[in-house]
Amino acid sequence: MEETTEIRGVADRYDRIIDYLRISITDRCNLRCVYCMPSKGVPLLRHTALLTYEEILRTVRIAACLGVRKIRITGGEPLIRKNLSWLIASIHRVPGIEDISLTTNGLLLLDTIGALSSAGLTRINVSVDSLIPERYAEITRGGSLDKVLAGIRRAAELGIRPIKINMVPIRGVNDDEIMAFARLTRDTQYDVRFIEFMPTGANDFWSPDRVVTTDQIMQRVQELGALSPIRHRKDGPARYYSLAGAQGVIGFISPISHHFCGSCNRLRLTSDGKLRPCLFSETEIDLKSAMRRGAPDSELERLLRLAIEVKPQAHTLTSTPLVRDRRPMSAIGG
Ligand code: GTP
Ligand code: 5AD
Ligand code: SF4
Repeated sequence: MEETTEIRGVADRYDRIIDYLRISITDRCNLRCVYCMPSKGVPLLRHTALLTYEEILRTVRIAACLGVRKIRITGGEPLIRKNLSWLIASIHRVPGIEDISLTTNGLLLLDTIGALSSAGLTRINVSVDSLIPERYAEITRGGSLDKVLAGIRRAAELGIRPIKINMVPIRGVNDDEIMAFARLTRDTQYDVRFIEFMPTGANDFWSPDRVVTTDQIMQRVQELGALSPIRHRKDGPARYYSLAGAQGVIGFISPISHHFCGSCNRLRLTSDGKLRPCLFSETEIDLKSAMRRGAPDSELERLLRLAIEVKPQAHTLTSTPLVRDRRPMSAIGG
């Protein structure tokens, strides 16, 4: 990477430093997880509505000048978009970008991770919601657990670190596997994160009684042994702990029971080019239209600053009545 700019992130109205941009590169997915999509799928964007890689790269360059240092590529499923390694390699060369990561369902990892790693990808988060192949296929409506695990193993062989496994415990569906996932941190070098089931848009499977709270998850994990807090990992929404003798750590992401909005450092870019200041606020700023009518960098910078300025203090997920997003999670990128 070339010379870096000095500033680290722009502060928002609540003194949060925004240095992390999550970029959804497609709203399409090769799975239909029950907690994310209805079985009939969700309406999809036309290909021309998607930001091109050049447009994404331009946004990253301007964001980096404003002090964004970390980029996460998300979807839908990002690995279904062609030439992702070109995008990663190009982002890797942007002055100021220090960290590029990927959130994936892992189905296509085995064949793609070699090129992505050579392009500069250093860490990945993979969704795995069951370690029982038949159940995994049911939850994802057709996914192959073996393929995902083979992809994760290949990533580990290539030196990708950390590898974070995201698991969403859902009462009556997979919550009996919480201990098996926690044990993975003893048996492997993978980190495991338990995420509270959130009421996202287009998600007709969510109900309050299906949510397993972080406190309940922790109780189950502690049946394996005491959890020691890990202090050095403050970044991001997860709080981290470890079991004695474990190689991996256990994270808890608790948007419902202990929201982490006070330390949120992120901005999102949707696959159709809207800046989204918060996962759970429908406020969006249309960067794509500005780019496509020929706006100069200075105007795009103004729009990025605006998105940071209007970032809400906290999400409204726990408000009553609950207001659901019109967009499904797969179109925002989680
Ligand atoms: P790192 O900490 O950088 O590894 O990333 P991450 O945990 O933010 O990334 P990942 O894509 O794996 O997200 C894990 C879970 O956290 C997903 O369920 C996301 O929807 C959730 N999440 C990430 N950012 C936010 C956020 O700003 N607000 C809320 N409510 N949830 C978030
Ligand atoms: N609640 C919690 N996590 C969710 N994810 C997708 N939908 C939901 C939901 N309703 C997670 C996926 C993936 C991450 C990006 O978001 O499991 O790991
Ligand atoms: Fe599952 Fe992620 Fe695809 Fe949604 S976007 S169906 S959570 S793999």
